[in-house]
Amino acid sequence: MSAFRTLDDLSDLTGKTALVRVDFNVPMDGGRITDDTRLRVALPTIRDLCAKGARVALLAHFDRPKGKPVPAMSLAPMAGPLGDLLGAPVVFAADCIGAAAEAAIVALGPGQVALLENVRFHAGEEANAPEFAASLALLGDLYVNDAFSAAHRAHASTEGLARHLPAYAGRSMQRELDALDLALGAPRRPVVGIVGGSKVSTKLDLLQNLVAKLDTLAIGGGMANTFLYAMGHSVGESLCEKDLADTARDIIAEAKAKSCEILLPVDVVCAQTLGPGVATTNRDLGGVAPTDKIFDAGPKSIARLNAAIDLAHTVIWNGPLGVFEISPFDAATVAVARHTAERVKTHGLIAVAGGGDTVAALHAAGVTDDFSFVSTAGGAFLEWMEGKALPGVEALRPR
Ligand code: 3PG
Ligand code: MG
Repeated sequence: MSAFRTLDDLSDLTGKTALVRVDFNVPMDGGRITDDTRLRVALPTIRDLCAKGARVALLAHFDRPKGKPVPAMSLAPMAGPLGDLLGAPVVFAADCIGAAAEAAIVALGPGQVALLENVRFHAGEEANAPEFAASLALLGDLYVNDAFSAAHRAHASTEGLARHLPAYAGRSMQRELDALDLALGAPRRPVVGIVGGSKVSTKLDLLQNLVAKLDTLAIGGGMANTFLYAMGHSVGESLCEKDLADTARDIIAEAKAKSCEILLPVDVVCAQTLGPGVATTNRDLGGVAPTDKIFDAGPKSIARLNAAIDLAHTVIWNGPLGVFEISPFDAATVAVARHTAERVKTHGLIAVAGGGDTVAALHAAGVTDDFSFVSTAGGAFLEWMEGKALPGVEALRPR
């Protein structure tokens, strides 16, 4: 973290306004927040700045209003729940720039908090327009980015603002970057990666980057079918991107050249249709029938992956191993997640996971709190795993 200025570099902020970018893009149902994780992860930063006496003005987006006000995408419903979590009222401002924002901020005392309306109500946000960033900058004295999960976007409030004000990484941003560094930057080896999900096509960059960095890469989920097919195994009527067979073989060859061992399923759980509690058959490779559909990895594959995890010092995980939303096809994901969590507790394994589906899968397995770190990021986690520079992170590097 020495590459970034953090809140530790700030002392008394009385009389100053901190513009803090948070990611409050939370799941909502009828105006109610159904998972407030992203509100909670912002609390340490908000509390720290309040304790230093700053006025705190929060900048955030919600959904994709495409540059104009959309009442259903207002941040107004979040001010109350955030205030409850903070234990102090949060003022809501009906715009994130101009008179409404200024008035709300001016009225704050030291250590008080305002939430400004959805930055994406202005076209300048996603366009990263310098004039819009300048309008935001007028409101504050310093900029804190605590939204790692939005750092893959080069928008005015995630990137441009860092050119206008002294910029700092918030606590959640710091934690994310530290965890990612532990998992893939300078990891304790061996490092095992677990990559699942339905399609190879969405994870090509990821796989290519990982084979160069990991000691072992376990591939699961629907994307494993494409690899099995590419290696000449029958996959019946399973989801399979046959046109990517060459690509899959290239990735296998690349892994070999980089001494990364690839673990593919050695047995699979098949059914004729996908549904809760349907009849299933375990098949060894070679035994998959023409009408079979593969929906999960089998017990031998689970044992083999768990054995690899036993030898590892670090595990990085993105994507489920089967159709985890539908029981019994959650078995491999749940078994490996629990085994990983156990190794964290008993052997000091470092286990880092991220990406939308992954978090839901770990949650379903009941192990979220047992992993060393679970990222709140979806797309940003993926892009980081792909080895890409994240604009919101790069902008924080002191120039
Ligand atoms: C997220 O929810 O992953 C981030 O807030 C980014 O949102 P976006 O995909 O709409 O840019
Ligand atoms: Mg999103």
